[in-house]
Amino acid sequence: MLPTPCFIASVQNCPGPMREPVLRLTSLAKVLPGGRWLFDGLALTLEAGEHVAIRGESGAGKSTLLNIIAGLETADSGEVWVAGTNLARLHEADRTALRRDAIGFVFQAFHILPHLDLARNVAFPLILQKQPRALALARAGEMLDAVGLGDRRNSYPRELSGGELQRVAIARALVHVPALILADEPTGNLDPGTAAQIIGLLGRAVKERGAAMLLVTHSPLAAATADRQLMLTPQGLVPANG
Ligand SMILES: Nc1ncnc2c1ncn2[C@@H]1O[C@H](COP(=O)(O)OP(=O)(O)O)[C@@H](O)[C@H]1O
Ligand SMILES: [Mg+2]
Repeated sequence: MLPTPCFIASVQNCPGPMREPVLRLTSLAKVLPGGRWLFDGLALTLEAGEHVAIRGESGAGKSTLLNIIAGLETADSGEVWVAGTNLARLHEADRTALRRDAIGFVFQAFHILPHLDLARNVAFPLILQKQPRALALARAGEMLDAVGLGDRRNSYPRELSGGELQRVAIARALVHVPALILADEPTGNLDPGTAAQIIGLLGRAVKERGAAMLLVTHSPLAAATADRQLMLTPQGLVPANG
């Protein structure tokens, strides 16, 4: 079993209560280069502490939607507001800073850096924030403890299993206490036991830290842990039936 996470105890810059929703999407549309509309008129509001699961067929545009929210791709119309800020009104450098500070992204394909040990991988968001190196590594160690990998902090990614790498990816996504967690099929290739651990870990991060989370998942069990379940369709996000 994973130890109880130290998310609150280990951080000093927890976001305070916010009047603005953590995420607001209005009339979002995305059309692919070939002309196919992925979605149109997509709207979503996510408050602090809310956990929303998004389901949808393969190719529906779930990863594209998360990339648009993170400012990694652009929508063709509509607006993305993160913590009260309209992404489109920001210069690229400010958009990068907002992504760095406010968003934790658990990518579908981990994106763990192979040449860095686990502590340095997890510390990476804090290093990008130019936090002191010793503090960043200490926080990374605490996060690795929280995901049950504290004794592996000097291991390299090649020495880890898929489930362990996914836990490293989650530690890295949470280390800088983001207001918004975007998790793209974080249990995609994991056995059911490890998948349940990962989902529990993310769910606790949301509730204990008042973060908001958008969880893209194919797993009905994972989706059932969310406050709301939505389905991505060409008409946008619609309530899913359990
Ligand atoms: N850069 C791109 N150029 C063209 N098509 C793309 C690009 N990125 C994604 N797609 C297409 O967009 C659709 C949605 O992809 P994706 O967001 O990865 O779906 P999902 O995550 O729901 O499986 C797919 O049909 C995919 O092939
Ligand atoms: Mg995807």
